[in-house]
Amino acid sequence: MKINLISGICISLLMLSCKQEAPLNYQVIPTPQSVAYKTGHLELPSEVKIAFPESVKKEVDVLQEILSSDFNCRTILDPQNTLADIQLELNTGKTEKEKNGYSIDVSSKGIKITSGTSTGIFYGIQTLRQIIRANEGKLTVQKGTISDYPAFEWRAFMLDEGRHFKGKEVVKQLLDEMARLKMNVFHWHLTEDQGWRIEIKKYPMLTEVGSYRDSTEINHFGSNEYDGKPHQGFYTQDDIKEIVTYAADRHIMVVPEIEMPGHASAAIAAYPWLGTTGKKIKVPCKFGVQYDIYNVADPKVVNFLTDVIDEVITLFPSPVFHIGGDEVRYDQWNESPMVQSYMKKNDLATPAELQVYFTNTVSNILASKNKRMMGWNEITGAKLHEYQSEKDTKEGNEKLAAGTIVHFWKGDSSLIVSTLKKGYEVVNSFHEYTYLDYDYKSIPMEKAYNFNPIPAGLPTELQSKVLGTGCQMWGEFIPTTESMNYKVYPRIAAYAEVGWTEAGNKDYQKFKLALASFLTRWSSMGIKYGPTE
Ligand code: ACM
Repeated sequence: MKINLISGICISLLMLSCKQEAPLNYQVIPTPQSVAYKTGHLELPSEVKIAFPESVKKEVDVLQEILSSDFNCRTILDPQNTLADIQLELNTGKTEKEKNGYSIDVSSKGIKITSGTSTGIFYGIQTLRQIIRANEGKLTVQKGTISDYPAFEWRAFMLDEGRHFKGKEVVKQLLDEMARLKMNVFHWHLTEDQGWRIEIKKYPMLTEVGSYRDSTEINHFGSNEYDGKPHQGFYTQDDIKEIVTYAADRHIMVVPEIEMPGHASAAIAAYPWLGTTGKKIKVPCKFGVQYDIYNVADPKVVNFLTDVIDEVITLFPSPVFHIGGDEVRYDQWNESPMVQSYMKKNDLATPAELQVYFTNTVSNILASKNKRMMGWNEITGAKLHEYQSEKDTKEGNEKLAAGTIVHFWKGDSSLIVSTLKKGYEVVNSFHEYTYLDYDYKSIPMEKAYNFNPIPAGLPTELQSKVLGTGCQMWGEFIPTTESMNYKVYPRIAAYAEVGWTEAGNKDYQKFKLALASFLTRWSSMGIKYGPTE
């Protein structure tokens, strides 16, 4: 009896000590690919020493800034100190897929972040930021190791400022959040029917006329109700440079999107000779797919586009250039004698073929400037819309140029498979899962989270040709930053994990736990986020 009592107490004490020893699980978004916990935690001193190779000095600046702003922690740079509290180390030997991966080891000796690249070191720092805990004036980190790498190389957030201009401060905040979430492509949709938002010095009317509209359709597509207020805004080339640098400091590439041959009304309003009818138009206030499109049969128009490309590429170091290419109504091309005779001369049977022919011309222009073209999946010539007839989209001889990146957003997933089989690489932004303008009924958090950019049943040998995914904040009905934030947050966190974490390592419940600290922080920043369920 006595023995039983003592052993019972011992077991309870043991259980208690086991309970205390249980690791404080890391709560990180996106979830790292693998984690192994060790017993106990590391306590950081009041002054943290950081060792690092000179080549990651920029990342060290980021780390210092984070430790100071998030944790009020003082740091000392001690580059060679092998006993420093935080050691950043560049190593080699990672596979291509893991090249921007990193590992973190937290032990009684300190914290070591290793990667083959400065980008990987930056990602390690973003993870560290999420696993440091502040408790009663102490900074602690659970001991353990993290081994992590991105599942996909393309993890994009797209902002449409053509419909509603937001401005630099809004963009910078989005870039800050992307960086925390290890998203690496800011896809900047800068030209639209309803607004041209980038200064082009050779064609000043693009912004003088094209960045302004008298009024804006409100509530929903086709409402025919307008707010009656002018809307306006554009980025100067200096603004663009500032944003591109800001993004690069956060290991984010900015990919400009300059729409052609459709979504061109604002440009045509500025220079009517760009349009297929040649008629003067106003920058539309109404949303939805417009009829005015570039006259691609006119060499002057192709010269104009080349000039625009020439200025745009001086501003964006990105190797990829997005030309839009979506939602082209062919009515004006069908009705234009000039376009019809151009099609005959070039043996183009359908307007879809003309679109592919034009797209290939642009692709060659871009290739001659060392840029790779990307466009929405209409550029393949497929029929995607009810306003396009079978006749107009019938497949002809014209083939999309090799090397083009096809941005899938609409149609059956068999189109992804056929595009991949033809040898093109694809970014999967299927609208039913990744469109941030859709409400939370259509795309609740869990649906966003469960998106897999690899379509079910895709043969293994084609899977690496799916470069990744993007989430798209289309701008028609987000007139204010507040209305935009409500749609972006918290779903952006789910999309970050879709892009980063291998499907087999995703866990929605774990994600939700880690989301809590993001929600708290967003609230403290005044971001009113949408439903979390
Ligand atoms: C698109 O949503 N029009 C690409």
